[in-house]
Amino acid sequence: MSFKNSLAVISGGASGLGLSVAKRIASQGGKAAILDVNEEQGAKAVAEHSNNIIFIKTDISQEDQVDSAVDQAAAKFGHINLAVGCAGILGAGRLISKKGPMALDYFQKVVDINLIGSFLLTRAAARHMQTNTPVNDQRGVIIHTASIAAYEGQLGQVAYSATKSAIVGMMLPLAREFAQFGIRCMAIAPGTFETQMMAGVPEEIRTKLCAEIPFPSRFGYADEFAQMVEQINDNQMLNGSVIRLDGAARLQ
Ligand SMILES: NC(=O)c1ccc[n+]([C@@H]2O[C@H](COP(=O)([O-])OP(=O)(O)OC[C@H]3O[C@@H](n4cnc5c(N)ncnc54)[C@H](O)[C@@H]3O)[C@@H](O)[C@H]2O)c1
Repeated sequence: MSFKNSLAVISGGASGLGLSVAKRIASQGGKAAILDVNEEQGAKAVAEHSNNIIFIKTDISQEDQVDSAVDQAAAKFGHINLAVGCAGILGAGRLISKKGPMALDYFQKVVDINLIGSFLLTRAAARHMQTNTPVNDQRGVIIHTASIAAYEGQLGQVAYSATKSAIVGMMLPLAREFAQFGIRCMAIAPGTFETQMMAGVPEEIRTKLCAEIPFPSRFGYADEFAQMVEQINDNQMLNGSVIRLDGAARLQ
């Protein structure tokens, strides 16, 4: 199934990695619904690709909003056959810092957006996909964004790494469960990518981070992530696992 035939819902699609997936789908003639809290950037994406991209304001951590957004996208496109989870926040901080212990609310917010949001998107998308008419025995593809911090969480990444390794943990049971419907489930674990999330990184830290990436010694481009999503969507043997996209970087 190529992007040309994709009818996608993309959480966090108003910016960075998710936006580049939406644009890649749109540029090939497929359709994408951006589910994001950022209305301004969502409107910009729609203005650039008005025939192929729609924006549905959605807080990915809210059950009713996610169910309703995926229902709206399916109604608009006829059905959906691809879901890409890119909504996420960094949630940096030590459990015990000079400012005191990490607030439960803070930890909870990272879990709600990064993990519960992934669960809600998966559930809403699979509920629709299971009734699709199969194409080459397949009814849909679900792709989530983990991080290499799932494996090598750095100091100050306890909340973020917890959510990203939980996404890794969900892939195999989801693939096993959805096999009966012909729905595949995969995740990508990016290294460091050039997006809004990394925009605030000071120059000296950026230089250090790049030097630690064996090859290519640079941040990844968002379109390289979108290309990976396209390849997973195309290749039916990819199921139930996680692909590192990191230039051989291993976080210290
Ligand atoms: N950029 C990197 O280096 C990198 C590396 C590894 C993993 N990731 C992961 O990739 C994903 C995309 O990150 P990005 O780099 O494109 O960042 P980004 O900040 O450019 O995009 C994230 C998007 O998520 C949206 N979002 C945040 N909270 C939301 C919510 N509650 N509901 C709906 N949307 C919400 C934001 O509005 C934004 O549009 C994230 O899950 C991130 O953890 C990024």
